[in-house]
Amino acid sequence: MRMVRKTLSLEDTEKLGQDLSEILRPGDVVTLTGDLGAGKTTLVNAICKGLGAEETSSPTFTIVNTYTIPLPAYGDDSVSDFVRAHVEKATHETNFHHIDFYRIETVDELIERGIPEFISDTDSIVVVEWAERFQDIFDDLSPISIEIEIDGENERTFIIKNLKDR
Ligand SMILES: Nc1ncnc2c1ncn2[C@@H]1O[C@H](COP(=O)(O)OP(=O)(O)O)[C@@H](O)[C@H]1O
Ligand SMILES: [Mg+2]
Repeated sequence: MRMVRKTLSLEDTEKLGQDLSEILRPGDVVTLTGDLGAGKTTLVNAICKGLGAEETSSPTFTIVNTYTIPLPAYGDDSVSDFVRAHVEKATHETNFHHIDFYRIETVDELIERGIPEFISDTDSIVVVEWAERFQDIFDDLSPISIEIEIDGENERTFIIKNLKDR
């Protein structure tokens, strides 16, 4: 399924991130493409917050930031369906990997940093900024792709593809 959402402010984009956090599941890989300042990091931080994971700073210098998605108490109505479903059959923690390809120069470097293992970690949710720099790595993973277009100072268009049944 394909979904297009236009946002007119930073807060709109944060709301979109919150909405996405409610439909993502362990095993999902999300690729983000869009120019500098498009709102990739803003969106990831909002997803992270929506999942109840600690808010992140930009991983531009660290390449991979991993957060644990905390398991809520049973009966907590404020948690998303995904978290609830996970809690019900949890045998391990779910992680959230926020990856940024911006500073990765070569495929060798990508492999040295263990990126293939991170993005194929089916127990986790993985979100990748600047995914287009090494798009081939996602070939067999059927990622949810989000393309962000900058339409004006505060306007952005998010084109979300491959949401499957969601
Ligand atoms: N509708 C919007 N959605 C997201 N960010 C916006 C929006 N309007 C303005 N901005 C600004 O654009 C910048 C986006 O930065 P960031 O999320 O770091 O982008 P990226 O990670 O794509 O380089 C921020 O300074 C933010 O305040
Ligand atoms: Mg960024």
